[in-house]
Amino acid sequence: MEGKRFKRQSSLIFYFLKGSKRFFVASMLFGAFVAILDLVNPRIIAYTVDAVIGEEEVGLPVFLQKLADTAGGAAYFRTHLHVIAFVIAGVALLAVLCRYAFRMFNARGEEKLVRNMRDTLYDHIIHLPVSWHNENQTGDIIQRCTSDVDTVRRFLAEQLTNLVRVVILIVLSIVFMLSINPRLAMIAISLVPVIILYSLFFHNSIGKSFQKVDDMEGRLSAMAQENLTGVRVVRAFGRESYERERFGKANEKYVGMWVKLMQLLSIFWATGDLVSGAQVMLVIAFGVTFCVKGSLTTGELIAFISYNAMLTWPVRSLGRVISEMSKAGISIERIRYIMNSEEEKNPENAVETDMAGDIAFEHVSFSYPLKEAEGSNGVEPEDKGADSEKLVRVLDDVTFKIPAGETVGILGGTGSGKSTLMQLLDRLLEIDEEKGCGGRITIGDTDIKNVNRKYLREHIGMVLQEPYLFSGTIAENIAITDGDEKKDIDMENVKAAAKVAALDEAIEKFTKGYETYVGERGVTLSGGQKQRTAIAQMLLRKPPIMIFDDSLSAVDAETDAKIRSALKEKSKDTTTILIAHRISTLMHADKIIVLDHGRVVQQGTHDEPIARDGLYRRIFELQQPA
Ligand SMILES: Nc1ncnc2c1ncn2[C@@H]1O[C@H](COP(=O)(O)OP(=O)(O)OP(=O)(O)O)[C@@H](O)[C@H]1O
Ligand SMILES: [Mg+2]
Repeated sequence: MEGKRFKRQSSLIFYFLKGSKRFFVASMLFGAFVAILDLVNPRIIAYTVDAVIGEEEVGLPVFLQKLADTAGGAAYFRTHLHVIAFVIAGVALLAVLCRYAFRMFNARGEEKLVRNMRDTLYDHIIHLPVSWHNENQTGDIIQRCTSDVDTVRRFLAEQLTNLVRVVILIVLSIVFMLSINPRLAMIAISLVPVIILYSLFFHNSIGKSFQKVDDMEGRLSAMAQENLTGVRVVRAFGRESYERERFGKANEKYVGMWVKLMQLLSIFWATGDLVSGAQVMLVIAFGVTFCVKGSLTTGELIAFISYNAMLTWPVRSLGRVISEMSKAGISIERIRYIMNSEEEKNPENAVETDMAGDIAFEHVSFSYPLKEAEGSNGVEPEDKGADSEKLVRVLDDVTFKIPAGETVGILGGTGSGKSTLMQLLDRLLEIDEEKGCGGRITIGDTDIKNVNRKYLREHIGMVLQEPYLFSGTIAENIAITDGDEKKDIDMENVKAAAKVAALDEAIEKFTKGYETYVGERGVTLSGGQKQRTAIAQMLLRKPPIMIFDDSLSAVDAETDAKIRSALKEKSKDTTTILIAHRISTLMHADKIIVLDHGRVVQQGTHDEPIARDGLYRRIFELQQPA
């Protein structure tokens, strides 16, 4: 799925309807049958009352009349009333079967549609660049994948499929009413445009309220998600009451919006009831008058009232379809924003270069887009134009070289841009000249822009600053496999890697050892244990380039030294990048790069920067035991 752009909402809807369309078409077809069958019985009853019982000269619709005549006409039915009863029951039964088919096909289509929407969205979202995820709140994304998908489903599966039935019912009811008595029909129809116009009038205000409510819901779930993820911080800083108040306020606002919306809807439905009631009243009043005066038969009156009653529901649902349409329009817009965000993709001529080459950063500059505090979850993708974005520069003209197979240490204060530098090397972030970035990064003279992303990432092992463990056993986390691939885990190698990462001792202490469950639903590992799990994971992969982003920070100095010497043994031909705050971690590196506020201020072996007055020496002196 490469760079799919949905210019219009309809094109996205058709895309989602792939596979479920035929079910909905079948469902609509049966819906049409239901409508037609519903319209037949009142005619038969009118015929029975007038022609069979009342002996008047009234007819049926042409095709039914023909059938009645072949059977022997009104005279025959007068002696065989049960036949009419059976016909009425038969029509009703047929309608039931069609209703069943309508629902069944609808449910099938619905299930396919929802599955397709969720799968497509999920697949798209996990392929979106990290920078996109940086800019969009997780809670908001989840809300778009759940409640917005649900709104669209409801509209397509419940409202739109009903539309055919509704339109047939309205049109045929009107035709039949006109054929029975044009004058009375005009009275019945006169209020229909009023009801429809009224729905349209409400369409706008309801739509706007729904958009507000939806945005608020997104913000609310983002807030809840943030608080649950950071529950420890909230607890540790005693921020419960503050957070509760913040959530409470937002929640109250949300509820207030809902109440307002519901008020609006209540007015809408109640007024609709009033107009429909008035219409029924008019029809009965005039109908009875006509009947008494003799311009309408009793049977016709019965049929007419049935048709008029049939008209009420579809006209009202037409209003409902319209109001659901505005809700669905907003939801599909919110989903379209996700679907129109461009996935990471490789250029046509992406190469797979030899990764055991020198790494060079050449005049690399990088800026992050400045996030708006509120309302950044753009409903309109056009809002997020690159021109209007403010940028914050975090790397400025960074140039250095890492010879193949050597170990380089990067030292720098918090926020100096070290992690950003590594994310650029792994292409989790891109040097995008349109977004205030510049320069290039090469590996063995190949610009990494031209290297296949997957290949690049497979060959760069990165121990993230904040390692993330998936729900699974320790062994699974080290081997990065899921439960189904368990049999493929080579325990010998996993254990060897854990040993190098100085994790084995801790694991032995767990009763289940390597089978201990960790992650969200399991044992919580300490920060240092998590880091070591991540190190073991990387060692198992044996990538030609290894990055340790502050990966020994949560490890005591002694273990730090142990891991480093073990690593040195293991990774003789590997290019290693060590990021650290502790000088002892990287002072033995072949080269040290000192970063300050996004600029390289010093570089060389330990002896060179230490000889000069500068950041490196200041930090070194600070970290010496007194
Ligand atoms: N996703 C992001 N969006 C916007 N700004 C960011 C983002 N990530 C980092 N920054 C900013 O970029 C600057 C550099 O961050 P970076 O994570 O590269 O620092 P660092 O050197 O790794 O710091 P530390 O030693 O604390 O890990 C910081 O000022 C930070 O606020
Ligand atoms: Mg960092």
